[in-house]
Amino acid sequence: MLIEGRPTRTIWPAADGSGDVEILDQTRLPHAVAVVRLASLADAAKAISVMQVRGAPLIGATAAYGVCLALREDASDANLDSALKTLLATRPTAVNLAWALAEMDRAVRPLAPADRYGAARARAGEICDEDVEACRRIGDHGLDLIRKIVPRRADGVVKILTHCNAGWLAAVDWGTALAPIYAAQAAGIDIHVWVDETRPRNQGAALTAFELGQQGVSHAIIADNTGGHLMQHEEVDLVIVGSDRTTREGDVANKIGTYLKALAAHDNGVPFVVALPGSTIDWALRDGVRDIPIEERAASELATISGRMGDGSVVSIDIYPAGSPALNIAFDVTPARLVSSLITERGVCAASEAGLLSLYPERRAP
Ligand code: MRU
Repeated sequence: MLIEGRPTRTIWPAADGSGDVEILDQTRLPHAVAVVRLASLADAAKAISVMQVRGAPLIGATAAYGVCLALREDASDANLDSALKTLLATRPTAVNLAWALAEMDRAVRPLAPADRYGAARARAGEICDEDVEACRRIGDHGLDLIRKIVPRRADGVVKILTHCNAGWLAAVDWGTALAPIYAAQAAGIDIHVWVDETRPRNQGAALTAFELGQQGVSHAIIADNTGGHLMQHEEVDLVIVGSDRTTREGDVANKIGTYLKALAAHDNGVPFVVALPGSTIDWALRDGVRDIPIEERAASELATISGRMGDGSVVSIDIYPAGSPALNIAFDVTPARLVSSLITERGVCAASEAGLLSLYPERRAP
């Protein structure tokens, strides 16, 4: 997608042929567009854990390149094992991380060490390209849902609420939840997006609003508690969010607060849809509330907030009483019964085992 009118991805091989990898540093957005170079496994692991990259598909893509950087140094079995372990420990909830690491392991382990680095680079590049294509298809399938809403709006403007950032910054390009919005924009449909601020890290205000603005999509940032009121007043036609892990039965882990939006949508008869690539489905899990590991992050992410001063400098300030403890749970699980449908690269389905298996029949138990 575009930054200042220039097509950009979130991760790419450095142009100097060194084998290093470059990323957009998302901790600097929206105040600065900064590129960071990843030159080692440690750089890649840090980029994921401090959230220079974030969003389920991008975490997977970065982990894939992290394996490449490790193998560039030492392509032995022992170093491969250690790299996979290090990367897997960076963040627990988004299953794309484990998925991408398994893909990399499968691609390189059978090979002689001398051949592993080249094969790893090739597979990491494919993982990125496959993600772009999956997101593009999610956009097309989601567009069909949006088209159906247009005739119901007297003013022709379709109003969509989203939570967190599941746009192109969370993937390699296009995004998941925002891909249908970009497809609708390209199809000439008038869209307005309600952007949940998404405390504590403000991925909505800092990232979703940034990318919608860069793409010229009409939007407004709202405080996280506003969505229910807007739904009661028929100001929301559709809620679309992404997912960090979706179980076999259609339960969806996503950024903390997603569940409350689903409850409000259910109470108001607003469709609540989740957009995700197949790499986000955890076929081994059924009950998301019980079984999906939920990340708990540092309380300091709640207790401080960063912003730009009048002189342009970016500062971080304390907002809580000194000494008050805080609890920072990063994700919650929305049960399948509250999800109207899932949009995947293979089409739209019910949030249920039968729905998912209709799109992924190869996942039927033997
Ligand atoms: O903590 P983050 O910023 O990595 O959380 C991201 C989200 O919750 C996204 O909504 C989710 O990964 C879907 S991304 C396409």
